[in-house]
Amino acid sequence: MAKTTDDGHHIGLVGLAVMGQNLVLNMADHGFNVAVYNRTTSKMDDFIAYCKANEPSADRVHGYADVKDFVKSLARPRKIIFLVKAGAGTDAAMNSVVPYLDKGDILIDGGNANWNDTIRREKEFKAKGIEFIGSGVSGGETGARFGPSLMPGGSKEAWKSLRPIWTKIAAKVDKKTGLELTGAEPGKPIKGGEPCTAHIGPDGAGHYVKMVHNGIEYIDMQLICEAYSIMKNLLGMKPDAMSKVFAEWNKGELFSFLIEITADILQQKDPENPRKFFVDAVLDTAGQKGTGKWTSISSLDLGIPANAMAEAVFARCLSALKEERVAASTSLKGPKAKKYAGSKKAAIEMIRDALYCSKICAYAQGFQLMAEAQHEYNWKLDFGTIAKIWRGGCIIRARFLQKITDAYNNDKKLQNLMLDPYFKKAIHKGQANWRKVVALTAEHGISAPAFSSALAYYDGYRSAVLPQNLLQAQRDFFGAHTYERVDKKRGQFFHIDWPEPGRPQLKV
Ligand code: 6PG
Repeated sequence: MAKTTDDGHHIGLVGLAVMGQNLVLNMADHGFNVAVYNRTTSKMDDFIAYCKANEPSADRVHGYADVKDFVKSLARPRKIIFLVKAGAGTDAAMNSVVPYLDKGDILIDGGNANWNDTIRREKEFKAKGIEFIGSGVSGGETGARFGPSLMPGGSKEAWKSLRPIWTKIAAKVDKKTGLELTGAEPGKPIKGGEPCTAHIGPDGAGHYVKMVHNGIEYIDMQLICEAYSIMKNLLGMKPDAMSKVFAEWNKGELFSFLIEITADILQQKDPENPRKFFVDAVLDTAGQKGTGKWTSISSLDLGIPANAMAEAVFARCLSALKEERVAASTSLKGPKAKKYAGSKKAAIEMIRDALYCSKICAYAQGFQLMAEAQHEYNWKLDFGTIAKIWRGGCIIRARFLQKITDAYNNDKKLQNLMLDPYFKKAIHKGQANWRKVVALTAEHGISAPAFSSALAYYDGYRSAVLPQNLLQAQRDFFGAHTYERVDKKRGQFFHIDWPEPGRPQLKV
């Protein structure tokens, strides 16, 4: 266990919302003395009082009402974590400590910051002699308390100082199974195992990778929702029956935190009406804070076809148009609802395969996006390691991630996850069912954008020839945008002097 240093507390944290509080307690449980500061002092007082009354490690948590006292209480190089609202709030909080820092001190942004902000901040602080780490922190409240997945980006020097704390407080994974070690309690953290953290790269790399994690989180959630929707609307299944299906799926290759909580949610009764299921009481409009949108924007900027991830964002946008949808449901016709005539058991197996194959495509898109981003931003990302630190702690933690780690360990230059022998085999095995499910959703008028766009991605990616020859010819026709030829080397561009098209004459 780390000892108290002579010249101050091991680390400081600014921002005592629930994530901040839980991260403080996690660090204290691991033997670190933590100074805490919050702009609203009463929040800090309440937290300290709560710790004293409830937490075994309360004596390692030290509250400061004055920002200067807070900074000066820290051992050097000072390390200060910020868990405040991303954007201007982060800049304001950081600027409040800057006057009291010394050269070599380290600021750590643990919020969901945009990686461009992190790149900018790192540069600005470096000019002042201050180190800056942008660290993704995933796992929600429980993760922060008992072991998150941590994705730090910044200089190697700064990482060296932070590493002892980050590796201690991160989630731990069993070396043999690749699964997260669970069972931590207040004052009794997990011992042993592989920590779910590693240095991701310089400046904004950590926050970029966290953003892609969230983009994948969006698609994982959307795929699960589509499986739920098909079971509900095509097979007429009730939430408790679907809960059993998800629980069963969770025993196999789909084993993951999100599938597990789905099984739990679906059997939950409505607290306001215990004879009904909770899920049926929740309005079908999803919120979003923006990280999925950023991932999709970045994929468009970098020219990476992450269509399934974008669909997941658009699906939330469409869900938000509740009133419009309700109105349209009475005027826009779909196919006549036919009862599904086939075997329910076989259909459930088909849906499982569709979910798994789509998931592989979605992760392939996420990793391709990171592969492109590293060129754009001069990073050198280690995809095996990224998958490895996502195996525990974070929202997308899953058995599946060990397979991704293996895939990149087997082939460091793997171009696309779908080409890895394990995943290729899985898609080959499941694709007939996946296609049937997509066809059934179209036939029955059930919206399943992630299943179908993932399939379109798969079919597009494996097509040696796409119809964009015609598209390029159209571009050359109306805009002299030139074209390449199938019988000439790449990089040579041609143009035809097209005849001026006549304006179509409307016959009156
Ligand atoms: C995590 C989560 C976390 C948060 C998302 C939710 O990794 O712990 O991703 O960051 O729950 O920001 O995002 P939306 O509000 O956009 O769904």
